[in-house]
Amino acid sequence: MCGIVGYVGEREVVPVLLDGLRRLEYRGYDSAGVVAIEGEGFRWSKAEGKLERLVRKLEQEPVHGRYGLGHTRWATHGVPSERNAHPMFDSRERVAVIHNGIIENFLPLRKRLVEDGWTFASDTDTEVVANLISSHLEGDLREAVARAVAELEGMYALAAVSILGEVDEIVAVRQGPPLVLGVGEGEQFLASDPAALLAYSRNVVFLENGDMARLTREGREIWDASGEALSLEDRPVQRLNWDPIQAEKGGFKHFMLKEIHDQPQALQDTFAGRVDFETGRVDLEISDEILGRADRVHLVACGTSWHAGLVGKFLIESLVRLPVEVDYGSEYRYRDPIVDSKVLVVGISQSGETADTLSAMEAAQQKGASLLTICNVPGSQATRISDGVIYTHAGPEIGVASTKAFTTQLVALFLLAQALRQARGQKMEPKDLSALAHLPQAVDDVLRLEPMLEEMARRYARAEDFLYLGRGINYPIALEGALKLKEISYIHAEGYPAGEMKHGPIALIDDELPVVALATGDRVSFEKVRGNIQEVKARDGIVIALTDREAEDLEAIADEVISVPRIPPSLQPVINVIPLQLLAYFIGVRRGADVDQPRNLAKSVTVE
Ligand code: AGP
Repeated sequence: MCGIVGYVGEREVVPVLLDGLRRLEYRGYDSAGVVAIEGEGFRWSKAEGKLERLVRKLEQEPVHGRYGLGHTRWATHGVPSERNAHPMFDSRERVAVIHNGIIENFLPLRKRLVEDGWTFASDTDTEVVANLISSHLEGDLREAVARAVAELEGMYALAAVSILGEVDEIVAVRQGPPLVLGVGEGEQFLASDPAALLAYSRNVVFLENGDMARLTREGREIWDASGEALSLEDRPVQRLNWDPIQAEKGGFKHFMLKEIHDQPQALQDTFAGRVDFETGRVDLEISDEILGRADRVHLVACGTSWHAGLVGKFLIESLVRLPVEVDYGSEYRYRDPIVDSKVLVVGISQSGETADTLSAMEAAQQKGASLLTICNVPGSQATRISDGVIYTHAGPEIGVASTKAFTTQLVALFLLAQALRQARGQKMEPKDLSALAHLPQAVDDVLRLEPMLEEMARRYARAEDFLYLGRGINYPIALEGALKLKEISYIHAEGYPAGEMKHGPIALIDDELPVVALATGDRVSFEKVRGNIQEVKARDGIVIALTDREAEDLEAIADEVISVPRIPPSLQPVINVIPLQLLAYFIGVRRGADVDQPRNLAKSVTVE
């Protein structure tokens, strides 16, 4: 995920920028850059790779100035390179921009700007923003940014500076990814994460979606999405008394809750740069030869990653009509699987170091399979032994219970299914393309259910057993919801296909057993799960229903109803798992469990 830092004040700007970028390194990046304004011009430096390379360049060729911007980039549009590193400048070198997010309509904007005589030196969508701002610049930078942003589609956090301004000023806009202001005396700070500025100021202002801010030595001005100037009280200063660990947790009580809230950005970072939202083409940088040769797919994984594999089976079989087998890593190699060169084996692993999964991958490779991995950790063993890697860009997942790694695995499997489909001459359907583009926002909307789920956790935290029911693509989500609860709260929980309840688990139903029923998707699935809910209620069971319908459809028969947005079925599992993550987290907290480091568990099980 990209990192943003800005400063205007009396200090030398570059040391402040570098200090802030160092505190954002944990977010993962592949290039970095800074720009300062001194006198009449820009002074800047960029480097591919780690921040240390930029620091060494600056030791050789120092950059001075009293205000400017710094950025660590996670490549989306355009490969990781110095040429594509931020800051980006307009072709008339009047404006510098840094940006986090994805501009969905950058291609038509770039085309129009080229026709108007603007030129481009990079492959990035950010350079389009720089030229667009400059094309509107008639002196007032804020006005130019406002007019440019009005033409942008997508989710972005951006900051701009200009050499034309009468005063030293930074203009920033938030539409999705976070931006926070640091308030000082005679100096102002900007960052994508409070951790970057706590060393200088603990007085911060969190921008809201649609906000635009203008920072000068004298202070700050903020306008809302409608362009209305806000009073300082509308966006009050908050005092952050975080210690360094809390800063890493972004102010959340636990890493697990922070990582649940990281998901909109992590999902966006996972598909950004891999999908052309104009044409629907997917590019995973995996050879069409590997993708086109497969006549069946094996997905091997453990735990939560195995649940992702079960969802992947639905996606690949429905979108590509290739047969898919999903196996536990610990079972696969010992069942002497039927594998040859036409089998595509995919190891799904957050850590890339899970011994059972690695063993299964190696066994498949020895039998002649093409081997891919969906993994979150660059350089891990799984990535080293595979013929191709589909990285999830979830950023470091510290909490032992997998949350953002799981949902980004689901998006990676969705992209793999689309790439397999594309290798067979079929394009992504417009409804799926649109669902993907809007997925981060839809997840952001579901996260607003947090207070309701925290309250619900109070009512069920003393339960001794839970049953989770789901049909079809919701069955793996029922399994995942149960695993989250048992991992975090130590309550015994089982996930079951809803249709199987009558073949045994119904004997468990009584007035102390909460049953979580996933009732989303097509009419048949919904009606059948509705029937399961009535069977549970007829036996005095407790029902927590999760549905993509109006709450009224189930309120008469369920004790609790969690309503989530309805999106195309191939991505609905990403939406459905979020409330289950939150429910498990808040029940675990109420029971006093160590939710980030549950007993007996390790983040990566590197032994068989
Ligand atoms: C998930 O919450 C657990 N921490 C565990 O099941 C985990 O998914 C499993 O150990 C696999 O880990 P991996 O994805 O790193 O291979």
